[in-house]
Amino acid sequence: MEPWLRSLSISAALFALVASTTPSSAADSAKSIAEAAGHFPDTIATVYAVAPLPLSTSPGGPAVGTLNPSSSAKVLAVEGDDLKVEIRGWQQGSGGRLVFLAAGRRIPVAEMKDDQKGLLRRGATQTDGTTGQEWTEVSLEAYAPRKQFVGNVELLWTYAEELMNANCTTCHARHPVDHFTANQWAGLIRTKKERVTASADQLTLMGQYVQKHASDMVK
Ligand code: HEC
Repeated sequence: MEPWLRSLSISAALFALVASTTPSSAADSAKSIAEAAGHFPDTIATVYAVAPLPLSTSPGGPAVGTLNPSSSAKVLAVEGDDLKVEIRGWQQGSGGRLVFLAAGRRIPVAEMKDDQKGLLRRGATQTDGTTGQEWTEVSLEAYAPRKQFVGNVELLWTYAEELMNANCTTCHARHPVDHFTANQWAGLIRTKKERVTASADQLTLMGQYVQKHASDMVK
């Protein structure tokens, strides 16, 4: 294992494969993320999860859910090694465990433990024009380890690009990200699980990247 990876406290699973088998450009961008993680001013407004990370209701407490890599969090306070953050998103119908980025767009922001989904505070409801589904805005105040966030999401997108160049060009040419909608990408990425050598965390990051740059997100 590379020395910089050994000193990491962020998800080794996200980077493990890079160190051994993927091109050095991907290893370089993974290293940039590792170096930037946790290093931002205390006054920063928004941070981005590097890896799937635990959300707790008290500093260092048991996890009530997981925040996805590249999900943004609003910083409310710094408490020791933890950040107190606010997570916002949307849920369809009466709720469930998954929190999505926008009404009608199945881009997963966070996943709650089944017995903790009641912690989500429910807000305004809107009807999605295309499907007629009811979506409700939800939010959660939680604590999460500072070292698992970066202040600049572009670091994660550079890494995702490198991962896609390494994993998504062996069978066909890369498809332009904005040729599909966020919901189409959700299904497409699922069919790739058995086809790529990337770890589950890496595929999750690639999924977030393509969904957030999809045709109906970049307009
Ligand atoms: C092992 C071979 C293989 C790998 C690796 C692979 N794909 Fe594919 N991909 C296919 C095949 C085969 C199809 C044709 C449709 C199908 O069978 O799903 C396809 C189709 C697609 C399509 C087009 C779907 C459409 O409706 O036109 C997209 C987009 C796509 N792949 C994206 C990706 C991405 C992103 C990755 C990397 C995460 C990837 N592929 C890795 C084999 C692969």
